[in-house]
Amino acid sequence: MSEKKLTIEKIVSLCKRRGFVYPSSEIYGGFAAVYDYGPIGIELKNNLAKAWWKHTVQMRLDVVGLDSGIFMHPTTWKASGHVDGFDDPQIDCKDCKNRMRADHMLEEFDIEADKMTADEINAQVEELKKKGTELKCTNCGSKNLTGAKNFSLMVKSNLGSPVDELSEDNVVYLRPETCGGIYLNYKNVVDSMRVKLPFGIAQIGKAFRNEIVARQFIFRTREFEQMEMQYFLHPSMMQEKYDDWKQVRWDWYLEYGISKENLRWYKHVKLAHYAAEAFDIEYNYTALGGFKEMEGIHQRGDWDLSQHAKFSGKKLDYLDPKTNKRFVPHILETSVGLNRMFLACLHEAYTEEELENGEIRTVLKFDNRLAPIKIAFFPLLKNKPELVAKARELYQKFNSQYNCEFDDNGNIGKRYRRQDEIGTPFCVTVDFESLENQDVTVRDRDTMKQERIKIGDLDAYLVEKL
Ligand code: GAP
Repeated sequence: MSEKKLTIEKIVSLCKRRGFVYPSSEIYGGFAAVYDYGPIGIELKNNLAKAWWKHTVQMRLDVVGLDSGIFMHPTTWKASGHVDGFDDPQIDCKDCKNRMRADHMLEEFDIEADKMTADEINAQVEELKKKGTELKCTNCGSKNLTGAKNFSLMVKSNLGSPVDELSEDNVVYLRPETCGGIYLNYKNVVDSMRVKLPFGIAQIGKAFRNEIVARQFIFRTREFEQMEMQYFLHPSMMQEKYDDWKQVRWDWYLEYGISKENLRWYKHVKLAHYAAEAFDIEYNYTALGGFKEMEGIHQRGDWDLSQHAKFSGKKLDYLDPKTNKRFVPHILETSVGLNRMFLACLHEAYTEEELENGEIRTVLKFDNRLAPIKIAFFPLLKNKPELVAKARELYQKFNSQYNCEFDDNGNIGKRYRRQDEIGTPFCVTVDFESLENQDVTVRDRDTMKQERIKIGDLDAYLVEKL
């Protein structure tokens, strides 16, 4: 058996063919940088979210959950600095109208432009010109480009007001990150729950950014889902808790089948003005060219609560019951894009194996807990009612506990192939012997080995493995 190179085309094609991810609005010609999750994809996404929630909220005494609105008072984003400063520098091609991230273009010349303003980037472009180097359009190669200008990533809406009346006074924003809703509910949680510092608030939800370039499948999209945890604490505890959370998040990936070799830390050199330390967990997205940010773990200081206290006029400090002193809690956050985690899981699970007959088997070797479908039930033949009835009976029994499929379409080989491609750990086939001996064939996704198991033992056999 030999392994084949993974390309983004292979991932995109499998995702469409097997119901993981579809391009948005396809019948209207598509809608850039938005994707829809199909019947199999939503199961994987839900399983990932459930696994994150289990370890971040359910299993911890010091973290509670939240589900805040996507729309918030517009001042939220003034206070947070997003309205005035959540920009990416953009360069346009005057010939083909291609839009490019100016900072990414400078990276080609080993210039780290991640946190540079448009003016700083233009100065760098001039320096390059003096050395005889000019930027080129990434699409058509033209040098006929605009200068860099700041492009706001904030997505505006006109909630409750007619479109033609949209002005800066009545604009509302679709949240660019979910944590805004956590900060606005910090006081509610302290007042209504029995939480004491240090404690965290976690939530999973949609976020929206008007990304300039979003051409990497579900890696960078304009609508995406974040899983964020904001941990409130006294600054004296920051380093200890920060190190703990870094370890917790790293271990979570290993627990769910991401290999150590495909993970690494990236320490931010240029930090937001309020941040003291920031690390990313990068995943080796080989189909996108290598290591890229999957999750951020940031120290945010007291910036968020101080800003919201200032703009709202409400007290957001904390009375320490031990010292009787008030202070504004500092925050550390863990923030991961569910879609990027999904793409990492697909990378990790995607395997092509050459079988003895020369055929290529594509199989997604997910951790069983993440697999969209856990068991598929097949009658050996579709036209034998007694086999169909027994397979259906077993499907119905197990489907109340695990997410299962029933399939009687096509030959068994094709049915195995489909289940391999969606990563189903076990296929159970009912054949003629089953009716006589009260047993079934259980086929293992990874080894392809088949075992006869008594129907009465099936539950215990599967429970141990799922
Ligand atoms: N609250 C902090 C925050 O939002 P960020 O680094 O801007 O920090 C955190 O985003 C995570 O959200 C990223 O590590 C990434 O996984 C995900 N993310 C950000 N922008 C994204 C986009 N356009 N498409 C998909 N995921 C995105």
